[in-house]
Amino acid sequence: MKTFPKNFLWGSATSAPQSEGHSLQNGKSETTWDYWFKTNPEKFHENQGPENTTNIYEMYKEDCKRMKEIGLNSFRTSISWARLLPDGRHVNQEAVAFYRDYFKHILEEGVQPIINLFHFDMPMWLMEKGGWETRESVDAFAFYAKTAFELFGDLIKNWTTFNEPIVHIECGYLNGAHYPAIHDFKKAIQVGYHTLMAHAYAVKAFREIMPNESIGIILNITPAYARSDQAADQSAKENADLLTMKSFLDPAVKGFIPDPLIQLIQAHDLTPETIGSDKEIIKENTVDFIGLNYYQPLRVQAPENPRFPAQDPEDLFAPYDWPEKRINPYRGWEIYPEAIYDVAMMMKNEYNNFPWYVSENGMGVAEEERFVNEEGMIQDDYRIDFMKEHLDYLYQGIQEGSNCFGYHTWTFIDCWSWLNGYRNRYGFYRLESDKDFTRSLKKSGLWYKEVAQNNGY
Ligand code: BG6
Repeated sequence: MKTFPKNFLWGSATSAPQSEGHSLQNGKSETTWDYWFKTNPEKFHENQGPENTTNIYEMYKEDCKRMKEIGLNSFRTSISWARLLPDGRHVNQEAVAFYRDYFKHILEEGVQPIINLFHFDMPMWLMEKGGWETRESVDAFAFYAKTAFELFGDLIKNWTTFNEPIVHIECGYLNGAHYPAIHDFKKAIQVGYHTLMAHAYAVKAFREIMPNESIGIILNITPAYARSDQAADQSAKENADLLTMKSFLDPAVKGFIPDPLIQLIQAHDLTPETIGSDKEIIKENTVDFIGLNYYQPLRVQAPENPRFPAQDPEDLFAPYDWPEKRINPYRGWEIYPEAIYDVAMMMKNEYNNFPWYVSENGMGVAEEERFVNEEGMIQDDYRIDFMKEHLDYLYQGIQEGSNCFGYHTWTFIDCWSWLNGYRNRYGFYRLESDKDFTRSLKKSGLWYKEVAQNNGY
């Protein structure tokens, strides 16, 4: 029996845009996703857009019962900025009523909510002004954060500012998977910097309003493994760690942007515009905990013909195709559970054993209806195996002293996934269709319930 620490969080995560539905209703304004779907629906898998998603907006009361039914003791979702503040200034009272009642129902089921503020859902009114490219976004986000803390702080004790900030930077400004889908390394760095400042100012507002509660940030961690021990490959690994991980982890936990990252950015003429007081704000507003979403590692090698100055991160670290890799064929992501142990040790040894939790881990599989048994239940043993393998390595890290306080899966009920629509499913509950929104429990939900109840397996 592997028993996890007392009060360990067993839960699931989702996000407002992927689960609420009613995306253009009840006073919510457009986000970049609504806009992009309207202008370029062909980009979205089978034309599946953000309007309906999982319809938690109407079904949250039953869904909160479902959380308890599968033993979750915690749950993360986000607030939609464009729903709460449709024009960025004025509060949508219908949104307040919805979120308050939703949060109350989560709490009534004995589930601890962790509420996040931004999950890739930039309001369109702000994007029209340049989104994270403009300094105005920092103030706008700080105002939104303050408003959310004031409106929901009596119910919600654990908050996070951003989910995976690297993703909206990379996908929006380098690889085309998020709006505005441009390719501009310098803008990507500026967007990253403003995101970091928006995070720091949100933490500042939090300390003023809720000095006794806790706040963190959710980062996607793709630990870099180099092709070889040779200096050039190791230097690619260092670059990858600096850009994809330490860029947010170090300022959030240690209160400063690492010097080697500043030097790297300077050397490639990518330095963003800053304000004199920023350094101080970052220093004074570190977090209480970190959430790390882990899906896959990053295999790197020295780039063959790097451009100087770099035009793309691939000029600083090139992808390496590890011949021994195991792949989830549906999502195309490597499966490498060992990395969870490495991350646990990194948090212990390089971050002074800072409190952290696995805030997302999971396996997306297409056409799961293939695995329905006679009773109509999806037999997703592959998902159970995937989670168990990751938990084995997490357990080992905890045994060796890493300060990890929870494990959240992605996700609770199958949800909409950006350009991939409903192709890959991750949930403990299957969403039958985005028309009638029926939910049915999968085998993994029963398994997770047992794990949560026994605090181990
Ligand atoms: C995480 C995100 O990166 O991975 C989620 O926080 C996302 O929003 C999840 O849905 C799974 O990835 P995908 O692209 O298969 O949906």
